[in-house]
Amino acid sequence: MDTIEKDLITKIEEAKKYIEDRIKVKPEVGIVLGSGLGDLAEEVDDAVMIQYSDIPHFKTSTVIGHEGVLILGTFMNKNVVMMKGRVHFYEGYSMQEITFPTRVMKALGVSNIIVTNAAGAVNKEFFPGELMIINDHINMVGINPLIGKNFDELGTRFPDMTSQYNKELISIANDIAFNLKLKIKEGIYAYMSGPNYETKAEINMLRILGADAVGMSTVPEVIVAKHAGMDVLGISCITNMASGILGTPLNHEEVIEVSNIVKDKFKTFIREIVEKM
Ligand code: HPA
Repeated sequence: MDTIEKDLITKIEEAKKYIEDRIKVKPEVGIVLGSGLGDLAEEVDDAVMIQYSDIPHFKTSTVIGHEGVLILGTFMNKNVVMMKGRVHFYEGYSMQEITFPTRVMKALGVSNIIVTNAAGAVNKEFFPGELMIINDHINMVGINPLIGKNFDELGTRFPDMTSQYNKELISIANDIAFNLKLKIKEGIYAYMSGPNYETKAEINMLRILGADAVGMSTVPEVIVAKHAGMDVLGISCITNMASGILGTPLNHEEVIEVSNIVKDKFKTFIREIVEKM
C-alpha cells in the first residue's frame, strides 16, 4: 500500500470508528438532506447526533441553511444515517473531501442511499414546489471524485453509469407519489459548480442538452455511491425556475423559502419510501 492509498482507507476507518463507538446499530439506509430539507432529522428515534466538526476528516459547511450534523437512529423501522447538511465543491473543498461522508456511510453498512437537493427548473413544464425523481444526470463540472488512484477495495476503476439511479427505487418512489397524489416529475439533473446561479445562456444550453433541473450538488455523491456499490435514489425539490425563464433575478433566500414550503410534502414522501425500501 502506498501512502495515498493508506491515507484514504485509514481516514475512512478513523471516521467509521469514531461513529461506531457512539452507536448501537449499523445503519442500512443513508439519507442526504439538501437545502431547507433538514427537518426530517427530527423524526429519527433514539437519535445519536454527531457534529461533522467532531468526526475525523469530515469537513463543515460554510453555507447558511446548511447545517453539519450526522444523525443515526431508527426511522420508519429502518436503521438510518441522515446527513443534515453537506459540503460543496464551490466552498473550495476537493471532490474527494465532499464525497468522504458517502464513503463513510458505505463503510458503516449503508446499502441504499437517498440523495436530495434543491434545484432550479430548466424544463419549462416543471414548477417551483414540485419534487423531481432524478433518473439521470449530466456532470457539467468537468471534474470527478474518482479521478486519482483507484482503491480496488472501494470500487472498480471504470464504474458503469448506465443505471446509477436505481430503477427499482425509482419505481417505488413513483408508486408512492401516485398513491399520495403528489405532483411528481422525473428527469435529468445537470450539475454545475456554482456558486453563482447560471447565466441565461447556460440554462438554454442545459435545456438543449436534455437537462430538466439544475443544481450545485448531488452528482459527486452519486458517482461515489455507485462506485461503492450502493443503490441510489435522487430527489430534487424544484425551488425556482432556472435563470432567464422568468426574467427575474435568482437568490438563495427564495430557494430556502420554497424548500421550506415543500418540506411537509417532501417528508411524507421520504417516510413512505424508506418504509418500502
Ligand atoms: N441553479 C443552481 N442551483 C440551484 C438552483 C438553480 O437555479 N436552485 C436551487 N439550487
